[in-house]
Amino acid sequence: MSIPHVLSGTTRLAGIIGWPVAHSRSPRLHGYWLARHGIDGAYVPLPVRPEHFATAVRSLRDLGFRGCNVTIPHKEAAFAVCDRLEPSAERAGAVNTLVFEGDGTIVGINTDGLGFVAGLAQNVPDFALTEGPALLLGAGGGARAVAAALRDGGCPRVVLANRTRSRAEALAAQLGDGVAVAEWGDRSALGEASLLVNCTSLGMKDQPPLDVALDALAPRAVVADLVYVPRETALLCDAAARGHRTMGGLPMLLHQARVGFSQWFGITPEVDAALIDFVAGDIPLR
Ligand SMILES: NC(=O)c1ccc[n+]([C@@H]2O[C@H](COP(=O)([O-])OP(=O)(O)OC[C@H]3O[C@@H](n4cnc5c(N)ncnc54)[C@H](OP(=O)(O)O)[C@@H]3O)[C@@H](O)[C@H]2O)c1
Repeated sequence: MSIPHVLSGTTRLAGIIGWPVAHSRSPRLHGYWLARHGIDGAYVPLPVRPEHFATAVRSLRDLGFRGCNVTIPHKEAAFAVCDRLEPSAERAGAVNTLVFEGDGTIVGINTDGLGFVAGLAQNVPDFALTEGPALLLGAGGGARAVAAALRDGGCPRVVLANRTRSRAEALAAQLGDGVAVAEWGDRSALGEASLLVNCTSLGMKDQPPLDVALDALAPRAVVADLVYVPRETALLCDAAARGHRTMGGLPMLLHQARVGFSQWFGITPEVDAALIDFVAGDIPLR
């Protein structure tokens, strides 16, 4: 008989709050690391309606949770519930990781941008952020976190192109120096880019594909997609067929999770081939 996973009276608790949350791969990911490191801990899905968010967070803290991840639609509400914000959260204007300190202080972190940059370093190691401008398609929460992290990581210029131009303009104004706006479909911005990132929800399962003509892109440019369901979007397939180096959204998801895990469970876990296979096994390829 194999020994089941047994919790003790001192199990460390964390989880992910979302509405809905059933689609989240985070319990699988953190569960893998907990088992791998033999940690007396649990990471659970927490479906919480928007109107109950702040009460739920304070209740989790009072119940002895170490903290939690926060996903759609709560990332802005999480920003508001914090007693203290790390610079990453201030810069991203949203929080995806909450840490409850021993005295009850709620600390907010945003690890999305860091996750993207760390994923890029691991998956496209011969690419440097300093190489040239990045063109980001989209101006939502994901674009904001990635744009801030790219600038902070040395990218000389980030250009935002969004369907709703005013949203890109507002974001560029908030992020300040080195962030510009281009028209949606602007081919010259594409031609100048060293890195193209899809930060829209286009290409996601049940969404139309992102329709962008890659012929204007320099051959050395890297193409990345934040979408991770499916793992290989039409954009990535097209880019790979043209010889571009590519990265899907899964590395970002895996790398952003390391910070929370380390804060709650006391070990900084690795993103290695075994973890990638385990999490990817639950996500359709195309
Ligand atoms: N890999 C990861 O760890 C990770 C982390 C965060 C997000 N993501 C993914 O990133 C994507 C965006 O997430 P988000 O949180 O930034 O969402 P969001 O804040 O809702 O922003 C959505 C973006 O998509 C654009 N968009 C939606 N439908 C469009 C269409 N038909 N044509 C053109 N643009 C369209 C929106 O443009 P408008 O402003 O014009 O509406 C907006 O820029 C999602 O697929 C999400 O799963 C992945």
